[in-house]
Amino acid sequence: MNQHPVPFFNYHYVFTSHEEEYRSLVREVGRRGAFIMQRDLENFEQHLAQFLGARHALGVGNATDGLMIALRAAGLKPGDEVILSSHTMIATAAAVHFAGGIAVPVECGADHLIDPEAAAAAVTPSTRFLMPTQLNGRTCDMDRLQAIADRHGLLMVEDAAQALGSKFKGRAAGTFGIASAISFYPAKVLGCFGDGGAVITNDDAVREKMSQLRDHGRDSTGAIVSWGLNSRLDNLHAAILDFQLARYAKVMSRRRRIATMYTERLADVPEVTLPPAPDSDADHFDIFQNYEIEAERRDSLRQYLKDNGIGTLIQWGGQAIHHLKNLGFTQNLPYTDRLFEQMLMLPMNMSVSDDDVDYISDHIRRFYGK
Ligand SMILES: Cc1ncc(COP(=O)(O)O)c(C=O)c1O
Repeated sequence: MNQHPVPFFNYHYVFTSHEEEYRSLVREVGRRGAFIMQRDLENFEQHLAQFLGARHALGVGNATDGLMIALRAAGLKPGDEVILSSHTMIATAAAVHFAGGIAVPVECGADHLIDPEAAAAAVTPSTRFLMPTQLNGRTCDMDRLQAIADRHGLLMVEDAAQALGSKFKGRAAGTFGIASAISFYPAKVLGCFGDGGAVITNDDAVREKMSQLRDHGRDSTGAIVSWGLNSRLDNLHAAILDFQLARYAKVMSRRRRIATMYTERLADVPEVTLPPAPDSDADHFDIFQNYEIEAERRDSLRQYLKDNGIGTLIQWGGQAIHHLKNLGFTQNLPYTDRLFEQMLMLPMNMSVSDDDVDYISDHIRRFYGK
């Protein structure tokens, strides 16, 4: 085993992987003086909508704003309850809070995604929305969630921040609900050089409201027709993201290859539970935003990997939404509690080489005496 450090994520690689192309993009867009709401943004929005098979995509400042914008455009009223998984970023719940609603975290299941049974059990007369997070680049069982939404008259807004290109039964994450949001934070599979996001919808009226909300309440003529925010995707970032989107198929397939290699090297280690391998289930096309395992003696394994130069991460700093008692959450969710003692993310990004996967896997095997 050759000793070499493998960081959890390589931020500079986001830029250096295509440095020359990015430099010329910056020069070209800069020389045009095209900074806010210009043709690069329109092009990217069109290409993104096409890629997803959606009617509309709009660039926004980040996915947190995007989720709030989506909820407001979909008609969330003050005090409405929104059911979401406790295994999600605080951003999901914060979007509900700042839209005026009440976030209700529920258990996730063995796949780390919202547990449909738990979601159904949490419905009250005040529930208006189901807000599944398409976590780790995997889409929830949208048939089961849609059935619950239909039974109780709920709308669905998807947190697809981590799931661009992920599919359930051939349909893209982000296109199931009334609206959704995607993140382009640098560590995302499609990541820009700062904050960025998009909102998606197939509904023309919701698109119009989201468009106003992201741009000071302006309509297409520039007239102010409602209250709005300033949450636009920078035109330069749109140009950078458009460049990346054209190469996205390769990125998804490399990540899926890394996941396959982890499965081949670790499937016989009983102390770890791996995410489903690519193509192990015909309903799911996963893009592996994260490679989140469950590991016995997780903290000791993490230290051992660190001692050998391997970076890992515990998602959300190990805090589920319902753990945030300081924000008023009172739920008791024992399944999620147990998962949060075992879950760990291994390096999964474009700078991870085949050798790196061998090195990481060999160390995990060695830790468990394999
Ligand atoms: C599941 C989830 N929801 C929401 C967000 C918020 O996205 P952003 O950072 O673009 O606001 C993120 C990630 O950053 C996320 O992973």
